[in-house]
Amino acid sequence: MDNKTIFHETTKYMPGGVNSPVRSYKNIGITPPVIKSGKGAVIIDEEGKEYIDFVLAWGPMLLGHSDEDVVRAIKETAENAIAFGAPTKAELEMAKFLCDNLENIEMVRMVNSGTEATMSAVRLARGYTKKNKIIKFAGCYHGHFDGFLVEAGSGVLTNSIPGSPGVPTDNIKNTLIGEYNNIENLKGLFDKYGDDIACVVIEPVAGNMGVIKAEEEFMEALRELCDKYGALLIFDEVMSGFRVAFEGAQSLYRVKPDLVTYAKIMGGGLPCGAYGGKKEIMEHLAPSGDVYQAGTMSGNPIVMAAGLATLSKIKKNREEYYNKINCLGDKLEKGLLKIAKEKGIPLVINRCGGMFTLFFTKLKEVKTYNDVKTCDSEIFIKYFKHMLANGINIAPSQFEAIFLSAAHTEEHVAKFLKTFSTFEL
Ligand SMILES: Cc1ncc(COP(=O)(O)O)c(C=O)c1O
Repeated sequence: MDNKTIFHETTKYMPGGVNSPVRSYKNIGITPPVIKSGKGAVIIDEEGKEYIDFVLAWGPMLLGHSDEDVVRAIKETAENAIAFGAPTKAELEMAKFLCDNLENIEMVRMVNSGTEATMSAVRLARGYTKKNKIIKFAGCYHGHFDGFLVEAGSGVLTNSIPGSPGVPTDNIKNTLIGEYNNIENLKGLFDKYGDDIACVVIEPVAGNMGVIKAEEEFMEALRELCDKYGALLIFDEVMSGFRVAFEGAQSLYRVKPDLVTYAKIMGGGLPCGAYGGKKEIMEHLAPSGDVYQAGTMSGNPIVMAAGLATLSKIKKNREEYYNKINCLGDKLEKGLLKIAKEKGIPLVINRCGGMFTLFFTKLKEVKTYNDVKTCDSEIFIKYFKHMLANGINIAPSQFEAIFLSAAHTEEHVAKFLKTFSTFEL
């Protein structure tokens, strides 16, 4: 069966033919390739067409697809341990790895996704502070938990959904929306609601409105205001963790978070998540404390094995991998800007290590969500179709990131640039 036939058949059984909205390419107006296999930086669809993959499962595959060490860890573990719903040594190893290697993590709780990690961290912050409100920033995405579906990024933004039907107004009445990189706006929110703010949750390097890095002064103001009003600061590092640097975005700022959430890379491509932080806060979780959060599959042995194999390999080769990814990213960024200039394509690129976004805008720089909204989606759609038709797999949205892995090569970058050079407005 060809891609189209499989996809159309799937729409009979699954809403929109997908298990996560952005995969459907609805905003682009085409059907997506149906992917059969992947090795390294290359994926192959059901028709046998190859693509150099810059989506990497939306971030997780930093080692590339089906890395041999990760595959071995999964196979070996599955021989004897699939799921127990009981304590295992694998959990200890993963928890120890995270606490030993990440500066602000003294204790962790494993979960099954980024949504679960961030939603649970918010519950813990509310339980700990005994306050109700949260601040999130317009354009940031923290998963599909009710309280986050206001002015969210990622698929919510791609499909122009400001929130979501099915989310009762009561569930978002305690969600305050801040403006990313706007200190005055943040102060205003704390002035007005400071006594009841449990936490601020932020993507320190945003990836869900396209890549935008929070400014140092903004982060410092955020920390000061949280301290002044007794609110917790939560870094959502689901995307940036182990991606922008081994220690994540936390290592790029002087400011330290109280809680941090992870998923994507830490699971090596399997369903995984974690949240962690100061021991004194984490011990409020049941059973040591009274904030309830649980999961049948949390800390699953195969997931832990895949995650540990991934993280240990990254740690062992960290210099080589992050240098390589940075160099390839730099080449791509410079090359794309040069081509765009020659061709008169309006383009700004924001890059943080191995994640970057092409913003098709006439602005000189993109620093806020309002800047992002100036992008020309028609140009994006044309560009996307051109790249995909020529074997370059990128996320089907102006508001997502392009990812690089340790498996990408100079040739892959050259092919990206060559393909972009034949794109006509
Ligand atoms: C920053 C951030 N937080 C949370 C999530 C939700 O993670 P998941 O899709 O694993 O639930 C995402 C997903 O892309 C994300 O990028």
